[in-house]
Amino acid sequence: MKMTAAKDLRQDLRRLAERIRGRRTIKLFLQTPIDRQVILDAIEVARWAPNHHVTEPWHFYLLGENAMKANVELIRQITADVKDVKRADFKAKAATEIPGWLVVTCRRSEDEVLQREDYASCCCAMQNLMLYLSEAGVGSKWATGAIVEDKRFFDMLGADQEQELVVGVLRYGYPKTIPIQSRKDVGDIVTELE
Ligand SMILES: Cc1cc2nc3c(=O)[nH]c(=O)nc-3n(C[C@H](O)[C@H](O)[C@H](O)COP(=O)(O)O)c2cc1C
Repeated sequence: MKMTAAKDLRQDLRRLAERIRGRRTIKLFLQTPIDRQVILDAIEVARWAPNHHVTEPWHFYLLGENAMKANVELIRQITADVKDVKRADFKAKAATEIPGWLVVTCRRSEDEVLQREDYASCCCAMQNLMLYLSEAGVGSKWATGAIVEDKRFFDMLGADQEQELVVGVLRYGYPKTIPIQSRKDVGDIVTELE
């Protein structure tokens, strides 16, 4: 009985490690829509991230059909402003091919330490979210870029730029292709002290 429990634990740990290792940033998605409940379930899990003083500094903006259209037009406008019309059309077309968008924000604070710690917690929440989605077979890409600093983006969300900062714009959907990634050897990043 005890041996079975130990074997089960090893299997669970292997599976957990494989999930963490196997999650990839997905850039190309199938057009299949994602059930909104899957995303809401992922958000429910995301908020269990470690969070100093339990400030719960995050907010999740889940874009519906109209908001996604507005988002595409904003991507077109902002890209045209910072680059050119050709690039703007390309970016807008690519954005229409993304099945789902979720924006994660963090409450701003004038206290530098609190701000840093709250942002760190939001990043942990992002990882929780992406791992949960990965387990559900849903790929995602955490993106930032010029749009997350633009007031028009906050207006589109109905958010106050003075109160919140964007941690990431999460694009999600079933993956069309899954890229390959690598990391340095563990020996290169660990210093074991006596
Ligand atoms: C804070 C943050 C911002 C990111 N912004 C972008 C982005 O704007 N565009 C992009 O293609 N990927 C972005 N990524 C994804 C990284 O490029 C990706 O995690 C990295 O290439 C490693 O790939 P992996 O997630 O598959 O391990 C971002 C990731 C983080 C953590």
